[in-house]
Amino acid sequence: MRLLPFSNYNLKTPKILDALNEASRSLAELKGFANSIPNQHILINAITISEAKDSSAIENIVTSHDSIYKVLTESGFKEDAAKEVVDYRSAIWRGYSLIKEKGFISTNVLIELQSMIEPNKTGIRKTPGTNLVNSKTGEIIYTPPQAEREIRDLLKNLEDYINDYDDETDPLIKMALIHYQFETIHPFYDGNGRTGRILNVLYLVLSKLLDSPILYLSNYINKHKDEYYRLFTEFRENDEYENWIVYILKGVNVTSKNTIELIKQIQKEMDSYKEEFAKKLPKVYSDELLNTLFYEVYTKISYVEEKCRVTRQTAATYLNALVGVGLLEYEKIGRESIYKNTRLIDLLSKF
Ligand SMILES: Nc1ncnc2c1ncn2[C@@H]1O[C@H](COP(=O)(O)OP(=O)(O)OP(=O)(O)O)[C@@H](O)[C@H]1O
Ligand SMILES: [Mg+2]
Repeated sequence: MRLLPFSNYNLKTPKILDALNEASRSLAELKGFANSIPNQHILINAITISEAKDSSAIENIVTSHDSIYKVLTESGFKEDAAKEVVDYRSAIWRGYSLIKEKGFISTNVLIELQSMIEPNKTGIRKTPGTNLVNSKTGEIIYTPPQAEREIRDLLKNLEDYINDYDDETDPLIKMALIHYQFETIHPFYDGNGRTGRILNVLYLVLSKLLDSPILYLSNYINKHKDEYYRLFTEFRENDEYENWIVYILKGVNVTSKNTIELIKQIQKEMDSYKEEFAKKLPKVYSDELLNTLFYEVYTKISYVEEKCRVTRQTAATYLNALVGVGLLEYEKIGRESIYKNTRLIDLLSKF
């Protein structure tokens, strides 16, 4: 396998520059727009849950928003697929806090994230036998490096490339090359795709193209999956890097626009919810309570108690009043009472 940087490449072809221009513009718009919104945590939570669902779907882990939220409430509800999705979102948050704290992305960070996504298959591969296989025909498409020493050296090289600020290549182009290289090294037994997709967003934050982890290509990759595999293979076999880079840049452009749209809709939903809430229940309304209802799409009495600093009795009265006017739905899961913000759930399910 080749080491980064791939120095003989012309990264300034008209096709790349055009796509880069559009992607940079859309991404900058997303960054600015997201920063203008209060309650960043609500936004990131909502976006990462959709991403976790889409990214897991690439790996054929399919579940419903409803199951995901039930797992999130920690009510003892069990569904493996939904749990994997929730673990994926935790891995994003963990990665985000690690790079905020450390200011770089190391091999150990990637190892830790993969262990959160695939708790049973952790660590860098030690025994040979891992291949990329065509899921339809079973045919081996590519055999990644097999020796642990070689994998570690390649990851070290990738780490140096990721954290090299002297390199003047645009970070978006670097992201495309990093993603290619990471998937080609394929350091783990499983979870390489998902870990690689988290690496993408963390790299955008590290390079300051974003302030929070809110841009994800999984939905785009899902929609153009055959192309993704084909371009990946053409890059590896024939050094066709231009089409690969353009594909990723287009993904950044399209996804930035979609994410701006999603944020606008969340805002709009919060505004109209707020208006209705304040009008129908003026004595119950407070900004803290509204924010609590949008923090996760499910609320529990204990959350309201804690966030709004009221007694358990008052918290229950508030939530039941909201159910009474149709702003929440009550559900009993096991022994736990859950209050669902169905409007937010519906909005996120449509995206
Ligand atoms: N047919 C293929 N052609 C090219 N690349 C492939 C092919 N199959 C898999 N890959 C690469 O390997 C990754 C999957 O590796 P792995 O199964 O370890 O990760 P995952 O997170 O479990 O899967 P996924 O990416 O499907 O969610 C893909 O994301 C892709 O980058
Ligand atoms: Mg897999």
